[in-house]
Amino acid sequence: MKPKILVTSAAGKTGLPTALQLREKGYPVRAFVRRRDSRSALLERAGADIFVGNQYSLSDMREAMDGVQRAYQCAPTAPNGLHFNAVFTVAANEAGLEHVVTLGQWLTSSDHPSLFTREVYLSNALIRLSPRMSVTSVDPGWFADNYLMVIDMAAHLGLFTMPLGPGNEKKNAPPSNEDIAAVAVAALTDPEAHAGRSYRPTGPELLSPNDIAAAMGRALGRRVRYMDISEKMMTKALRALPPSNYSEAAVSQLAIYAEEYRRGTFAVNAPTGDVLKLTGEAPESFENIVRRTVATRPDLRKSVPATVRAFTGFLKILLTPALDLERIQSQRDHVRLMNPTFSQDTPEWTATHVPAMPVSAPAKVA
Ligand SMILES: NC(=O)c1ccc[n+]([C@@H]2O[C@H](COP(=O)([O-])OP(=O)(O)OC[C@H]3O[C@@H](n4cnc5c(N)ncnc54)[C@H](OP(=O)(O)O)[C@@H]3O)[C@@H](O)[C@H]2O)c1
Repeated sequence: MKPKILVTSAAGKTGLPTALQLREKGYPVRAFVRRRDSRSALLERAGADIFVGNQYSLSDMREAMDGVQRAYQCAPTAPNGLHFNAVFTVAANEAGLEHVVTLGQWLTSSDHPSLFTREVYLSNALIRLSPRMSVTSVDPGWFADNYLMVIDMAAHLGLFTMPLGPGNEKKNAPPSNEDIAAVAVAALTDPEAHAGRSYRPTGPELLSPNDIAAAMGRALGRRVRYMDISEKMMTKALRALPPSNYSEAAVSQLAIYAEEYRRGTFAVNAPTGDVLKLTGEAPESFENIVRRTVATRPDLRKSVPATVRAFTGFLKILLTPALDLERIQSQRDHVRLMNPTFSQDTPEWTATHVPAMPVSAPAKVA
């Protein structure tokens, strides 16, 4: 009898492939989703037991963990990550789970300027307090999927727009959602080998923004040019473009992550060999990730209506008011530190990340 595994955020970027890969390996899976839709239907067809509920509700989480032995803990990219993780940790301890794989962050450090990141640090410490439950952390950096947020503009206007700094600096080895999931699945299915360990899955090579634009261009069959945009423009785009479901608080954190990107933090000791080590397979290249996306998106093919739509979207970005990030982070209920430290300025962080390349001078603080 294989143990039953709960996958939280099971309709999300990493939860969905985690649940599907576990099913392929024959594990009984309970998939926690917030509604029934095409993603839950896919999970159901794969044989997962669908649990519809609110992940921030302790009573729902207790019910979801009934009869479960292991779990994938994945807080949504949204405020209240610590609340989600506290609910998860309480329910996991009560249910006596034997093993948890938790999705953390590459940047995780105690005094980070990002509240979300500090919450991940605390969550990691809390889940590890239980003497009976073993834990593995999977701490990826900037997902390949993040670049795909702007694939429509690349496909129809030939522009890859992000605030990533100079186009020729190689600052990220982006992992696919599926490779992150494969590392989580390896740890979920073999706790003895991975208990207490942390992994940082990456893609196969460091890429510059120009490399990313070129890979998009090859997959799309057109020239794509990188355009370094300001932080202000990034806030406008995140608010204007679908899926514009990011709250103001979330956008303020994404701006800090872009700052870490420009500082070269995601390039420190990257790429890692963790995907190969845990799965036996080399990580997927970024170009292949884009090609898979293009294959499932006929709307990315060249057409006059699609170009008009992309151009209208671009105008919408220009007309959307920028967010005042300082105002958002100065709000009374936003927990802010007087003297935060970016990851590379934190000795505890640098002790676990050996620099593999020189990093450029820090840019302006977000
Ligand atoms: N993106 C990056 O570059 C990056 C890098 C490092 C670490 N991370 C970490 O990745 C984590 C997010 O993982 P992910 O991208 O796989 O997740 P995700 O795509 O954000 O998925 C979250 C899922 O949770 C669902 N959900 C939201 N609120 C819910 C509720 N109240 N009850 C039930 N379900 C709910 C969402 O439903 P809907 O789909 O219906 O909205 C979504 O399917 C974050 O903790 C972040 O720190 C991200």
